[in-house]
Formats: sequence, C-alpha cells, structure tokens
Amino acid sequence: MKVLVVGAGAREHALAHKIAASERVEAVYAAPGNAGTARVGTNLDVAADDVPGIVRVARELGVGLVVVGPEGPLVAGVVDALRAVGIPTFGPTRAAARLEGSKAFSKDFMKHHGIPTAAYGVFDDAEAAKAWVRELGRPMVVKADGLAAGKGVVVAATVEESLAAIDAIMLERAHGDAGRRVVVEERLEGPEISFHVVCDGTRAIPLAAAQDHKRLLDGDEGPNTGGMGAYSPPPMVDPTLEGSIMDRVVLPTLEGMAEDDCPFTGVLFVGLMLVDGQPRVLEYNVRFGDPETEVLMARLASDVVPLLLGSARGDLEGVELTWGAPAALCVVMASEGYPGSYPKGRPIHGIEAANALPGVSVFEAGTRAEGDATVTSGGRVLCVTASGGDVHEAAERAYAGVRAIDFEGAHHRGDIGWQAR
Ligand code: AMP
Ligand code: GLY
Repeated sequence: MKVLVVGAGAREHALAHKIAASERVEAVYAAPGNAGTARVGTNLDVAADDVPGIVRVARELGVGLVVVGPEGPLVAGVVDALRAVGIPTFGPTRAAARLEGSKAFSKDFMKHHGIPTAAYGVFDDAEAAKAWVRELGRPMVVKADGLAAGKGVVVAATVEESLAAIDAIMLERAHGDAGRRVVVEERLEGPEISFHVVCDGTRAIPLAAAQDHKRLLDGDEGPNTGGMGAYSPPPMVDPTLEGSIMDRVVLPTLEGMAEDDCPFTGVLFVGLMLVDGQPRVLEYNVRFGDPETEVLMARLASDVVPLLLGSARGDLEGVELTWGAPAALCVVMASEGYPGSYPKGRPIHGIEAANALPGVSVFEAGTRAEGDATVTSGGRVLCVTASGGDVHEAAERAYAGVRAIDFEGAHHRGDIGWQAR
C-alpha cells in the first residue's frame, strides 16, 4: 500500500518513519514534508492546506491511506474531500474537527455532555466580556475562539492582563478573525498531561500518556512555544487515573459526538489539567500532538498502519497495541530568535552521528535539503528523540543526541522531563 502523510513537521517525520517500517507499506509520500520525510519517502510539492491539491495527488498516486498531521486541513475539510473520492483517510471530518476549530463549540459541547472542564463564558462583544471579568474580579484565561496556531490563549496573572487580552484578541484582532469571539474561563492549577486516543466513531484505543513543555525556558519560564520537548510516561498518570480519563472524558466525548451526528474518527488528543488529581479538559485537539507524537512513536512496538487504517475505515475491531520501550523523551532544538522571528538556511551538522547513538532518532521539523546539506527552515528545527528503560535513561540518551548536533544559534531546554527525573 502507498501512504500519504500530510504536513511538514517532526510529528509528520515521526509518523512517516513509523509507517515506512510497516510490512504493509510499499511507499510513503509527504505533502509537503521536510528533509526528514525525504529520508523515509518522497516529498510532494503540495501545501498541507491545499485541499484540492491533496485530493489530486492522492488520486494520481493511488494511495491506500492518507494520514493528516495538522489541524488546518482537518478544519478545512480535507477528510470529507478525500473520503468523497473513496480514499481512506485518518482524521476527523470537518464537522468533528470543530472540537479544535472552535473553542466556543468545544466548551458548549463539554457543558452539554457533562465533561469536566473550567467554568467559562462565550462573548461576541468585547465590552460584555470585560464587564464579566470586572464583575468576577479575578484573573481569567482568555482564548480566541478560532485556530490561532497555538497562540490564541492568554493565561492572565491579573484582572488588568485579562482585560488587555480581550482588547488584543477582539479589538486589535491579534489573531485575525479567530478572535471575533472569545472564551473567557476560570484559571485552573495543576500538572498538565496529553492524552491521545485513536477513534473509529464509537471505539477509542488509548495511547500512552505524555507530557509536553510549552514554555521556552528551563523551569517553565519564558514565552509559550509550539512545544520544546516531551516525554512519556508522566509519573502522575496511573491506571486508575487513565480509567477515569476514559470514563469521564473520552467515552462521553465519543458518545456526545455520535449523538450530535458527527462521530469522531482519527486521533483525539485531550489536553488535561489534573486539579486535585482529577482530570479537567483544557482543550481538545483533533490531531496528534507535536512533540508528543515523537515520543509515542518511539515507544510503540506495534505496526501503526492497522491502527491508522482501522480508524480511517471506521473499524478498529481487533486492533491491539503493544508498547516496546518503557519510556521516551524528546528535546526540541530551535532556531535563534524562536518563538519570535528567526533566520533560515543555516547548515546543520551531526544528524547522522546523533541517529547512530543508542536509542536515538532525530525527527526533523524545520529542515530543508540544500544539495547534500541539511539546512534550517523553521523555528523548531529538530526533535531529538530517544527511548530508554526509564525517563532518566531516555533523557540521558536524548541529550547525548543533542550534544552531537550543531547549527549556528541553536537553543534548547536542558530540563525536559523534570517532573519525572
Ligand atoms: P490551550 O491552547 O487551550 O491548551 O491553552 C494553551 C495553554 O494555556 C495550556 O496548555 C495551558 O497551559 C494554558 N491554559 C489553558 N486553559 C487554561 C485554564 N483554564 N487554566 C490554566 N491554564 C490554562
Ligand atoms: N504539543 C501541543 C500540541 O501539539 O498542541
């Protein structure tokens, strides 16, 4: 079977790498991919959000499965368009992708179906939103309703900051039309975890729990980023908590979506905060987390294709997963200036040397081939991933990988996995 992976990050490289290892797969394509996906398959010159272009190449190549990485094309309906021409596609339909595409939709959905989350209000009018914050007199979290590349959330420390965030999002349109409407919600405290389940509309197969590190600097300081590293498993998740996440969050979500006539297929990635040890949903994502996927793929022993294909076809009956490495951890190496603006085109040295180290796989994010060289082409450049017998060993191996790699201005966090080490 030929498989097409849509997207261009380290998540897509990790997926393409794992898919290429399947006996059932003869060729892997990536649209548009990066220098990493080109090492395991063939890159196509089609943008991830070019829905007609994706449909065209998938038909021309005769692919048997399309796996969609990022949320943009899902919210734009790429799954509906591919399934309409008979191509099995891993991901949710446009209607189901609203769980991520609209925070107001997801909050109302959770309220309606009794799924634990922070108390909130939805506002189309900045003055009304601000009046509510003033009345409460507490710092609140302000979220742009629509997709904002992970940057549409302000966790305010003061009432004034909450009011300023409402102005920035709604009046100054810091994230464009995504900020026409806002969700204002209660600020929760507790450790955050990433919980992924692969779904076929009614069934959900849980993947291993993981934890991301969104802040730029050690000690969880500095600005938010797309994610500076991740590891699995987080020590705060035990089988009892996993059972409670399945019973109180995942299954009611699947039942609710089916009841509302948009059954959920693909991967549901629930961002949870543990408040007094109990799960509360911060957000739904309708795609794999990045960099969580890199550690999940590093730990997964089973062939991933039956899982992806079963979900795409709406039938996960009989699919079972086995996990290999007890732990995995990844460290993101970023460009100088990230998460602000950054230079491109800087030569990267040492990827091969890092890949040769025990347990290490370098998944590439913002990289591009330039002749024989690999150069930087994005903010998050590499995701240096390692498996190990425990989180400690995975961390030592991943950091050995980081030390083997060099490009001008590279920076990374030194404390990934600190809650488990
Ligand atoms: P989201 O994109 O909704 O996950 O929000 C981005 C980040 O903001 C999350 O990973 C949390 O760290 C933080 N966050 C979101 N909602 C809340 C909340 N209600 N209370 C505290 N922090 C939050
Ligand atoms: N790692 C967080 C995300 O993918 O949204």
